Amino acid sequence: MTRPVILKIDPNNIDPKLIKQAAECIKNKGLVAFPTETVYGLGANALDAEAVAKIFEAKNRPLDDPLIVHIGDLAELYDLTDEVPKEAKKLVEHFWPGPLTVVVKKKGKVPDIVTTGLVTLAVRMPRNSVALEFISESGVPIAAPSANLFGKPSPTNAQHVIDDLDGRIDMILDGGKTEIGIESTVVEVVDGECVILRPGGIDIETIEAVIGEKVSFGSRGYSEKSPGKYPRHYSPNAAVLISEEAPDQVKRTLEIAQRKLAEGHNVGIMTFGEHACHYKEFNSKVLGLKSDSRMCAANLFHLLREFDSDKVDLIVAEGMSEKGLGHAVMNRLRKAAGV
Ligand code: TXA
Ligand code: MG
Repeated sequence: MTRPVILKIDPNNIDPKLIKQAAECIKNKGLVAFPTETVYGLGANALDAEAVAKIFEAKNRPLDDPLIVHIGDLAELYDLTDEVPKEAKKLVEHFWPGPLTVVVKKKGKVPDIVTTGLVTLAVRMPRNSVALEFISESGVPIAAPSANLFGKPSPTNAQHVIDDLDGRIDMILDGGKTEIGIESTVVEVVDGECVILRPGGIDIETIEAVIGEKVSFGSRGYSEKSPGKYPRHYSPNAAVLISEEAPDQVKRTLEIAQRKLAEGHNVGIMTFGEHACHYKEFNSKVLGLKSDSRMCAANLFHLLREFDSDKVDLIVAEGMSEKGLGHAVMNRLRKAAGV
C-alpha cells in the first residue's frame, strides 16, 4: 500500500487548507491519523461502516473491541444518544473539551461495527485545536482508536504513528507531540453511580470533586466489554517487570536488574529523576520526577518505544504512587507487564 500523506500543521496557527485536505480524505472513506491532547487517534467517518472497518484492519484490532466516537461540539452528543444521565451531563459539561470519554446508550444511526454490537457508545470531545477543527470540517463524528498497532504503546507523536502504520493508512496530521501522553479516562454512569472503566488523562480525585461523591472501578451494568480486557496491552516488544513503590525501591530495582543481567537479558531501567544517579551502569531512562505524575504520563509511551529501539528485551520499571495521573501511569505499566 502507498505511504501516508503527512501534513505538518501548527496547532497555534492552523492552516485551513490542510484541515480541508484531511476532511476530504474522511469524506472519501479514508483513514486520517490526527493529534488529540491525549494520544494520536486513527480517524474515520463514524457513520460509514465501510470506512470504520478499515480502522480495525489497519490496526489488526480484534472486532470485539469498540471504538470511541469523537465530536467537535457538546450538542452533537445528543445526536448520538437519547439518554445522558445527570451525572454524565455534569462531567461532560465540566471536562469537555478534554480527556474524558463517557459511555452512553447509543441511538440507531451509529453502525454496529463502531460499538462492536454493544448497546452503548463511547463518546469524547477532545480539546486539541487540530482535532477540533478536523472534526468540525469533516462534518461527521469521527470514530478513532489510538493510532498504534493493536497491543502496542499508544502514539504520542507522528513518528510513532509512522513506525506502526506506514503503508496502512491514508494521511497523518502531524501536530507535534501530544500534551497529556496517556489516553482519556473512560466513565460510565450506571444507576446513578459513576464507574471508571479506564483511568486516564483526568484523575479520579478531580472527577470525585466534580460529582461530589466517590467513584467505583471496573465494568458493570449494561456495558459488557471494558477497556483493556485483553491481558497484555500497551506493550513494548520487551517484557516489563515492575519494581513497586517502596522505601527500598532503588535497592530492589538494582537487585532485579542485576539478576536479569546475569541471566543474559538486555536490561533497561525506567526510573525517576530522583533515582537516576543510582543506575549509571545500566541503560536507564528517566520517566520524569516521581513527584510529578503529569510529566511521567507525558513520557511513558515514548520511553517504552525508545527501549524497543535500543533492542532492550527486559524493562525494569519503577512504580509510582497511584495518585493523580500516577493511577493511569500504573494502570498502563501493569497492562504492559501483563499483570
Ligand atoms: O484518549 C483516548 O481515549 C484516545 C484518543 C484517540 O481519543 N483513544 C483511545 O481509543 O484510547 P482506544 O480505542 O485505544 O481505547 C478506547 C477504549 C477501548 O479499550 C474500548 O474497550 C473502550 O474504550 N470502549 C469503547 N466503547 C466502549 C463501550 N461502549 N463500553 C465500554 N468501553 C468502551
Ligand atoms: Mg488504544
